[in-house]
Amino acid sequence: MDSLLIRGGVPLYGDVQISGSKNSTLPIMAAALLTAEKCVIRRVPALSDVHFMASIIASLGAEVKVEPGCVTIQAAKIKPHGDYELIRKMRGSICILGPLLARLRRARVSLPGGCVIGTRPIDLHLKGMRELGAEIPIRNGYVCAVAKRLQGREIFMGGRSGPTVLGTDNVMMAATLAEGVTVIHSAACEPEVVDLANFLNAMGARITGAGSPTITIVGVKALHGVEWEVIPDRIEAATYAVAAAASGGEVNLLGARADHLSAVTDKLREAGVKVERNGAIINVKRGSRLKSVDVTTQPYAGFPTDVQAQMMALMCLVPGMSIITERIFESRFTHAAEMGRLGADISIEGPSAIIKGGKPLSGAPVMASDLRASAALVIAGLSARGETKVNRIYHLDRGYEDIDGKLRKLGARVERVPGE
Ligand code: EPU
Repeated sequence: MDSLLIRGGVPLYGDVQISGSKNSTLPIMAAALLTAEKCVIRRVPALSDVHFMASIIASLGAEVKVEPGCVTIQAAKIKPHGDYELIRKMRGSICILGPLLARLRRARVSLPGGCVIGTRPIDLHLKGMRELGAEIPIRNGYVCAVAKRLQGREIFMGGRSGPTVLGTDNVMMAATLAEGVTVIHSAACEPEVVDLANFLNAMGARITGAGSPTITIVGVKALHGVEWEVIPDRIEAATYAVAAAASGGEVNLLGARADHLSAVTDKLREAGVKVERNGAIINVKRGSRLKSVDVTTQPYAGFPTDVQAQMMALMCLVPGMSIITERIFESRFTHAAEMGRLGADISIEGPSAIIKGGKPLSGAPVMASDLRASAALVIAGLSARGETKVNRIYHLDRGYEDIDGKLRKLGARVERVPGE
């Protein structure tokens, strides 16, 4: 397995182009299953998760072409089940359930397991689709969904930890071809949900309210092919913003959407980072003195759980105490122990991490355990003295397009070391 060798202590300077959003691309690719016509999706990031999703969709019988920055999908004839092993391996693949149910009235997908950040149930996805009229028994580890017809309803989708992003996506996609009107209450408001709704509307769906907690879907008979460009990746942009602040440099984020980043930029400013918007460019510069801040993750428009680990890396460098509370996932602190290897002082108390920042970090070999934890370890490594080797970087390749190339362009001393 490849690893990333980082020689730290170099401030990042320059421009970084923000790629298309991973978490928009995956459900939009799944939504292409809703029509027999061709869909062309642009600004697609080159990520292993995108290739995974392409293979899953191809295993359902669709024609899928992946080119640099673009995926073309034509699901002229598809079957309700695909390659189980592939589907089981990628949690995001659960979003094929809604489109398959809508298009074929039948779907069989492997039940995704938990993952390193928590148990990650799909009860709300299933609840929503059952309310639309599907019967969904779980048999031998498979979700087997069948519906004679799908009927629009009022559906409450809020769960213990708030709304669900992919659950909202799944029910919204299933409802596009249902009879009558579906209203999703306590829907997720993430920009990726809005991007999917806009994509579906361009295909001929009738969806209003996406981006608010109440989404209304008027069912239509059929959807058609479309060309689309996915939104920029707000989590990638936030990661480079935090990296710029942590390394003590100045970075221009090109093509990022400032309106999708308010919670992150507000928190960075509170910490003393200078963040300025200049048209389509966001300039991020470390201020003269940073201060520790507390962070609580929340559903959008709150501070994103997907930037929690990166923010923790920054707080390790700032003198003072900071409390970071994770409210979305139950065990998303695996990066804390690894940061400890670099000399960070972090203790975990229930859903909160207490960081006593300002201790000098020094390079060490560390092990990445999930995508955002890996990004945080890279940020810590960039700011530490000496050499940090981040092992198992396949996690990073799932979600960050050409991360080592982009960092090198910013001046970082980063090298990909091929594994045996
Ligand atoms: N939840 C339930 N029941 C469900 C579904 C979710 O209780 O049926 C709970 C989850 O356990 C969690 C909370 O609801 O506590 C929110 O989970 P959500 O369903 O919103 O997560 P997701 O849709 O599976 C997406 C992103 C994640 C991101 C979360 C939260 C994709 C492919 N994944 O996951 O992205 O962290 O929303 O914003 O869109 C990442 O990119 O690193 C990543 C993990």
